[in-house]
Amino acid sequence: MSTQVARTIAAVREAHDSTRTWGGVVGLVPTMGYLHAGHASLVAAARAECDHVTASVFVNPLQFGQADDLATYPRDLERDLGVAEEAGADLVFAPAVEEMYPAGRPFTTVSVAELTAGWEGAVRPGHFDGVATVVAKLFAIAGPSRAYFGEKDYQQLQVVRRMAVDLDLPVDVVACPTVREGDGLALSSRNVHLGPEERRAATVLRRALDAGIAAAAAGERDPAAVDAAMARLVTGEPLAQLDYAAIVRPDTLESPDRIEPGEYRLLIAARVGKPRLIDNAGVLVG
Ligand code: PAF
Repeated sequence: MSTQVARTIAAVREAHDSTRTWGGVVGLVPTMGYLHAGHASLVAAARAECDHVTASVFVNPLQFGQADDLATYPRDLERDLGVAEEAGADLVFAPAVEEMYPAGRPFTTVSVAELTAGWEGAVRPGHFDGVATVVAKLFAIAGPSRAYFGEKDYQQLQVVRRMAVDLDLPVDVVACPTVREGDGLALSSRNVHLGPEERRAATVLRRALDAGIAAAAAGERDPAAVDAAMARLVTGEPLAQLDYAAIVRPDTLESPDRIEPGEYRLLIAARVGKPRLIDNAGVLVG
């Protein structure tokens, strides 16, 4: 069966109601389109676990700041439909902005304040409020039992998880591993803006994460030393400009005072040429 397109909230509700009527599990994959293999992996994960899979394709104006370029954000719905269909989506929900925000900007917004002051939130004020608000709306519209997000946007994943817990939303937020190129570069829509030299230099993010993992695994207890081990690699790459590199607690995203045995997340962000890239990795300290 070919993937259907829904343009309205009513059409999505109707499709999902018919699945839920017989006890079927609805899976949702929220995206902003311009789908790549990373998105396809989320749809495929949903396909494996759900009876009905909807991918939303909506470039959400609320999560773009002044400096971000909403107007030039890449869009190609025809291509997205092909990727979604191949990965196994039953439905693509592609609403117009007026369908999602009939009054222009919503009066009600969702803010996961504790998790969004730092890291990406510091660079893009208001961004995560826009993300949390649209994801809350998508959950309310689609009523999924399960929703799939990539670990690539780790802070976003934590924001959505926290929101679902705090607001008692009956959705399992499923985290899917980052999809990488053969040389370790995390897939991102921004990679298309890398020139050939920058593309080569961009692998420094993954190498820096590996250096951080190695330092933590070797018994380094000082978070600043782990941060520095990552930063050294990035500052050694002439085409890269480090924004941050930090070992953090995986749930609160706070920098620990000292590294004790347990799970941590390494976060990194750097500009490589014009694009600003982010990446992250987990590390278990014994
Ligand atoms: O990760 C994205 O593509 C977006 O932030 C999301 C979750 C679809 C909300 O617009």
